[in-house]
Amino acid sequence: MNKIIKFKTISSTNDYIKKNFVDLEDSTIVVSNEQTSGRGRSDHTWKSEIGNLYMSLLKKNDLTHDSFFFEMIQISMSIVELLKRFDIKSKIKYPNDILVNNKKICGILIESKWSDSIDYLILGMGINVNQIDFQELNFKATSIQLESGLEVKLDDVLMMFLDIYNNNTFELQDYIENSMIIGKMINYNDELCKVIGISKEGYLLLKSEQDEYRVKMNEISLEEIYDEINN
Ligand code: BTN
Repeated sequence: MNKIIKFKTISSTNDYIKKNFVDLEDSTIVVSNEQTSGRGRSDHTWKSEIGNLYMSLLKKNDLTHDSFFFEMIQISMSIVELLKRFDIKSKIKYPNDILVNNKKICGILIESKWSDSIDYLILGMGINVNQIDFQELNFKATSIQLESGLEVKLDDVLMMFLDIYNNNTFELQDYIENSMIIGKMINYNDELCKVIGISKEGYLLLKSEQDEYRVKMNEISLEEIYDEINN
């Protein structure tokens, strides 16, 4: 069971958990109708207008070194399955985006605190639900309503998400099969490499004519790979 804390407005649901993680129980989920300082990966701002689902889930128990990417798999696949319930086919843009026909429908921001081991993981998600105009981002963002034609209650989406997340354990293979990155080419170490897999820790596995590499997600420019996909 998840304790659900709801806000009409908040700076950021991830930041709320970060500030209060000692007092919050494991699996608490914080949801807000809007965020005034929503954050994305690499210090990007996450514009958080009313109409979408902004939420963060706290994990404090039984965490290991592999939990970070394990949870990335669980969250990404839960969103892919959630979208299927609206007849929407999506793909995972490694590491943390969910796209529909190359347009972003969900962004995931997982944050952790380490001391000797991991103290907590915050699993933050922004799911575009009822927004129909993304202004200058119209060519690269979409929503459940735009894709399905349905205006959906945010509470229903939240409950569907929790149902899927709490009742499934997805495998690395599920994540790989639903990822856009496998088979793409990238320059690494002055060699042209093919992405041949993803490890359970979240490393990309690359193969050139001579060598094989295991690289961290921040060691390479993913732009290069995904630009190729967009063209
Ligand atoms: C990204 O695509 O870069 C990740 C975006 C993550 C946005 C969500 S919205 C809920 C949670 N609170 C935040 O401040 N960010 C995440």
